[in-house]
Amino acid sequence: MSQNSKLSNYKKQRYFNICVIGAGYVGLVAAACFAKLGNRVICVDNDKKKIEQLKKVKVPNFEPGLEKLVKEAVRKKKLSFIHSIAKGVKDSQIIFIAVGTPPKESGEADLTALEHVARKIAEHLDSYKLIVEKSTVPVQTGLRLKESIRRYAKRCREFDIASNPEFLREGRAIDDFLKPDRVVIGVESDKAEKILQALYKPLGAPVLVTDINTAELIKHASNSFLATKISFINAISLICERAKADVSKVAEGVGMDKRIGREFLKAGIGYGGSCFPKDVLAFIQIAKKVGVDFKLLEEAKNINLYQRRHFVEKIKEELWILKNKTIAVLGVSFKPDTDDIRQAPALDIIKMLKKENANVKVYDPEAASKAKKVLGGVSFCNNVYDALYKADCLALCTEWSQFSNLDFRKIKKLMRYPFVADGRNFFDREKLQRLGFRYLGIGR
Ligand code: UGA
Repeated sequence: MSQNSKLSNYKKQRYFNICVIGAGYVGLVAAACFAKLGNRVICVDNDKKKIEQLKKVKVPNFEPGLEKLVKEAVRKKKLSFIHSIAKGVKDSQIIFIAVGTPPKESGEADLTALEHVARKIAEHLDSYKLIVEKSTVPVQTGLRLKESIRRYAKRCREFDIASNPEFLREGRAIDDFLKPDRVVIGVESDKAEKILQALYKPLGAPVLVTDINTAELIKHASNSFLATKISFINAISLICERAKADVSKVAEGVGMDKRIGREFLKAGIGYGGSCFPKDVLAFIQIAKKVGVDFKLLEEAKNINLYQRRHFVEKIKEELWILKNKTIAVLGVSFKPDTDDIRQAPALDIIKMLKKENANVKVYDPEAASKAKKVLGGVSFCNNVYDALYKADCLALCTEWSQFSNLDFRKIKKLMRYPFVADGRNFFDREKLQRLGFRYLGIGR
């Protein structure tokens, strides 16, 4: 078969055999969504316990719709879970690498897991494979990946490397995957491009094709831009507080300009999660490595951390002495609709309150069991009202939608001092003030 007709075959191919290595948050969502599109997907993880759970369709993370999607795909035999990379590689045309790239102490991404997987893939290469980075990696990782696979490949050296960064938000990951604003593919061969174009065709989304370095950079640039946008509005919120303006309205007015856009302009206690804090640090290091001092990002990071301290200072300013005061922290996950507490602003805030010897009571609808493992000396409550019983302050850290229906008349009777510190500008300030609450938001 000529090279051209082979390529047009890929173009026509609708379904692929896919291996996703890493059944973490990104890997699992990608595996389930590729399976939903009709592909046959093998999801591999070296954590045997996790794989056994997944075989029983027990999804380790709370992500709306994911368990249902996994169940459906497993029932239709489109998705299976194994812990052998060998089998995963052998049975697939496309291999997605979605392993963790956690930060080292310096902020640089630790690529140990990725390199390990690359060697394993190389050992088992037996025919052409397209190997795709899904993990968030520093620019030029694709090059290293290619070298490493070449070096360790035994029987076959036919492969392509591609970069296909993910833009999934926790809590909305399935929608973000199936209805993306864009799909970015970084490739260095026509064949790799054709395969990825065909794979993503059913989504009908705009596809941006670049070289591998550029695709890798797009991911870090996107997350860093969004993080900077949040820090920008948080810096404005400090000015608003001093100048007696309302940051929510400033954000609205600014965001109405289509060039700026309304999203990611919510002032508050700042960003957390497993992505923004890590990716901002990693991007600072990447820039340093190529000789660029990315001071803007350093400042975005500093502003973000300051917001947490500032929130505690505001509570302290109101309550004067925090020792023996009871603070009810509502929400501990880094944002709503997830049980993820990684780098959650609430954790730092709780630690600062504890340092002042405050009594901290916590309620979170999903993240309590994870939080219990990392927070000592804090009482976890089964509902909002238990948390607020005899509290001197309601400190809102995560804007779970169920908090929009709280019975504030009841809360006023329960609290020792009716004081709301709203870290997400979530509650209706006027209503609370009418009910006799002392209300402090961010930048208003
Ligand atoms: C983020 C990106 O939004 C995704 O596009 C990306 O794929 C993902 O990281 C990743 O790299 O894997 P995620 O961390 O799930 O997704 O959460 P976001 O919804 O982006 O929120 C991040 C943090 O920013 C949260 O703590 C949130 O509370 C905070 N935030 C967000 C604000 O403080 N203000 C805003 O206006 C928006």
